[in-house]
Amino acid sequence: MAARSRGSGLFWAALSRRRAPGPSRCLSYQPHAPAPGTWSTELSRLSHGDLYRLSVTDPDRFWGAAAADRLRWVEPFHRVRDCDLSSGRIGWFLGGKLNVSVNCLDVHVEKHPDRVALIWEQDEPGTEVKVTYRELLETTCRLANALKSHGINKGDRVAIYMPVSPLAVAAMLACARIGAVHTVVFAGFSSDALAGRIQDAGCKAVITFNEGVRGGRVIQLKATVDAAVKTCPSVQHVFVCQRTETPVVMGERDVQLEEAMSSQPAVCAPEALDSEDLLFLLYTSGSTGKPKGVVHTQAGYLLYASLTLQHVFDYRDGDVFGCMADVGWITGHSYVVYGPLCNGATTVLFESTPVYPNPGRYWETVERLRISQFYGAPTALRLLLKYGESWVKKYDRSSLRTLGSVGEPINHEAWHWFHSVVGEGRCPLVDTWWQTETGGVCIAPRPADEGAPIVPAMAMRPFFGIQPVLMGEKGEQLSGNDITGALCISQPWPGIARSIYGDHQRFVDTYFKPYPGFYFSGDGAYRSEDGFYQITGRMDDVINVSGHRLGTAEIEDALDEHPAVPETAVIGIPHDIKGEVPFAFVVLKEDLSDDAPAVLQQLRDLVATKIAKYAVPEHFLVVTRLPKTRSGKIMRRILRKVAMETTEDLGDVSTLDDPSIVKEIIEAHEAYR
Ligand code: PRX
Repeated sequence: MAARSRGSGLFWAALSRRRAPGPSRCLSYQPHAPAPGTWSTELSRLSHGDLYRLSVTDPDRFWGAAAADRLRWVEPFHRVRDCDLSSGRIGWFLGGKLNVSVNCLDVHVEKHPDRVALIWEQDEPGTEVKVTYRELLETTCRLANALKSHGINKGDRVAIYMPVSPLAVAAMLACARIGAVHTVVFAGFSSDALAGRIQDAGCKAVITFNEGVRGGRVIQLKATVDAAVKTCPSVQHVFVCQRTETPVVMGERDVQLEEAMSSQPAVCAPEALDSEDLLFLLYTSGSTGKPKGVVHTQAGYLLYASLTLQHVFDYRDGDVFGCMADVGWITGHSYVVYGPLCNGATTVLFESTPVYPNPGRYWETVERLRISQFYGAPTALRLLLKYGESWVKKYDRSSLRTLGSVGEPINHEAWHWFHSVVGEGRCPLVDTWWQTETGGVCIAPRPADEGAPIVPAMAMRPFFGIQPVLMGEKGEQLSGNDITGALCISQPWPGIARSIYGDHQRFVDTYFKPYPGFYFSGDGAYRSEDGFYQITGRMDDVINVSGHRLGTAEIEDALDEHPAVPETAVIGIPHDIKGEVPFAFVVLKEDLSDDAPAVLQQLRDLVATKIAKYAVPEHFLVVTRLPKTRSGKIMRRILRKVAMETTEDLGDVSTLDDPSIVKEIIEAHEAYR
């Protein structure tokens, strides 16, 4: 099957990585019924189970009602969907016109202008800034007008290189207001990585800060943008905001954004956009070297982010939604910005780190801001649990109602610590599975009918409209339970990505070709005897470092740029805190092996410069050759066994070109240890 990009052994190995079953105990909670008025009267009477059945048997009726009820339309849609997964054609709410920023701001300003929309939890504890819906609308409009006055119009792409902050949110919403397409680039990415994304998207403008602040440290943002835009002729303006007092050198195309905004009116007529106009691009890693610009559009994305937020997290009017993600990732898009704001929630923008100034930071923030839903990454929990319970218990967590985990598998220890210590055993903990490409949560323990249990460390149930299927090695659909396979989804849902920017064929090839007619997630999953899903991990060459998705080919591409390095192979190996870390096998030019330490340092710097610091391999092993099949493919399965010291059973090595290489690599690894 085509999906097994590099080495089918790896593809299927992921399936056997099913985590050991935890205690079979199930935890029951009373779920919250859908808020009255958010569904048509008829649908609001249905149980979650009946709603789910309706959502998959009659998606037009289900999603049509949801879209009509939840979104404000300028023109109503005339067709709920037009999709053909085999060709990658996906359209929702056709003929409809709306504006996402109106749905996130204006509709709430009409009802409760002084409700707090954003709580900016700045790096220093106790310095939070609250922004009301009225203020956010005004800021967004001024920013939108400033963009327009500099020639940014509907369809233009704008890169946002800003850490989570009210101005970053306003920049996203300002783009949405005028129909510009934003692409937020995580502010930890290097100038090369930023430049690659700006070039691919053909961005006309970049919005940034002079500097960022995180964990007590200052991060140079404008300087990174300056370096990036040198190779980006499409960029006409760089808008610079001040996060700190430090002045920065302003060049010809630089515009001081706050100044530009101050002379603009605080109202801006929203553009009426087609449901399928582009809302944003978000670059993510795949199994080839070049990150792909995942395309999301207006109505379907917003509806899906908004509906999942309410039902997965049991959001209720007046809640303070605390998602700890950065806006540079999809979690930040859907559950810091669009999902909460579309629901009229108060959303927390967390600028700091879980351990700054001490490991109690999250829980002190929960107490001070009275957070209702706390949504975080297992990597942070694994780190915090090592510091002990006292850092949690000294703060009042009575405001918490739902806990959520995202981005990578959550191990049992972290799950139980989160549930029992943080949540005192009284808050449902939802392990949510989804991806940049899915737009919002696809599998999570909630919603569920009354009294339905939550099984620890399992994503469990498909969300409304999601029909997971597991595929076997021969591409066949697996029936029955207690079974493991490639995780696909058989029907389109409104939040699914629409394309890869500038490369629709890659979109089709990556997601719809491996199992024709199905969306292939790239993950493997186990379906338990009770029919619940547990994610087993990636089946391609994508790894997950501290919840950040990375293509091993991306790292190899960076390493291969070094003139002393003819060849490399990078794999992921498990890590206690980070989940996975990259391990690089490096072949050096023969005459350079004496200089290996210096070259390896240069390689570390190279990855940090080309991608980001978190992508730098934790381990480097210099080898003379890599194990390859007769057709020239690197056998990564063997490298993984060497790195994890499980070489007793190497499996089938008959296709290796020269089996003696394995012994050489094992010896090199023993010397490395
Ligand atoms: O492998 C899965 C893992 O993260 C991948 C998606 O990464 P990204 O697009 O960056 O989005 C992350 C935030 C939604 C998936 O293919 N993943 C995500 N959530 C889980 C998970 N693995 C296990 N359990 C999860 N709950």
